[in-house]
Amino acid sequence: MAVLAGQRVLLGVTGGIAAYKSADLVRRLREAGAEVRVVMTEGARHFITATTLQALSGQPVRDSLWDESAEAAMGHIELARWATRIVIAPASANALAKLAHGLADDLLTTLCLASEAPLVLVPAMNRVMWAHPATRQNADLLRARGATILGPAEGDQACGETGPGRMLEPAQIVQALSA
Ligand SMILES: Cc1cc2nc3c(=O)[nH]c(=O)nc-3n(C[C@H](O)[C@H](O)[C@H](O)COP(=O)(O)O)c2cc1C
Repeated sequence: MAVLAGQRVLLGVTGGIAAYKSADLVRRLREAGAEVRVVMTEGARHFITATTLQALSGQPVRDSLWDESAEAAMGHIELARWATRIVIAPASANALAKLAHGLADDLLTTLCLASEAPLVLVPAMNRVMWAHPATRQNADLLRARGATILGPAEGDQACGETGPGRMLEPAQIVQALSA
């Protein structure tokens, strides 16, 4: 875990069922010695609360670009500079598409565009969404640009289907980040 010790990990959480696993991921990243700040999308708020992620990270959680007090000092740029790594877990199909095309229409995508930190994406979605040519191309584009894509794993999905699209388990993510 030495590689994570002292790292400043910005954890992006997007809107998918696997967002409940982000709580465990925050805990494990901190156990490995990383500082963690969480940014959630509007979608993620339907799956996990900011209160949970705030309690586990020990830091305020941001979920909007339009936060007047945080943005008085250009908070999104400060967060983008603060991060030594950006990890998005779960990364939705929507987030992959936006990042592949350089969109910056919310806090998470804006700070990804404004950061020089290495980007690690941990996709989680229905197997058909993952197999869709649009998602395939978006993932290839992101990889070609230097992003690391961890997973997805294959198995039973929340939607009742079976196939590739499951988010890696938090322990596997921490292990991969420590490698
Ligand atoms: C119950 C439910 C579960 C969903 N699960 C996923 C998922 O696992 N992966 C995914 O890519 N999208 C999933 N979606 C769709 C996303 O939430 C939707 O595309 C949303 O726009 C994502 O926004 P975000 O990327 O800004 O978080 C789900 C939607 C609902 C209502």
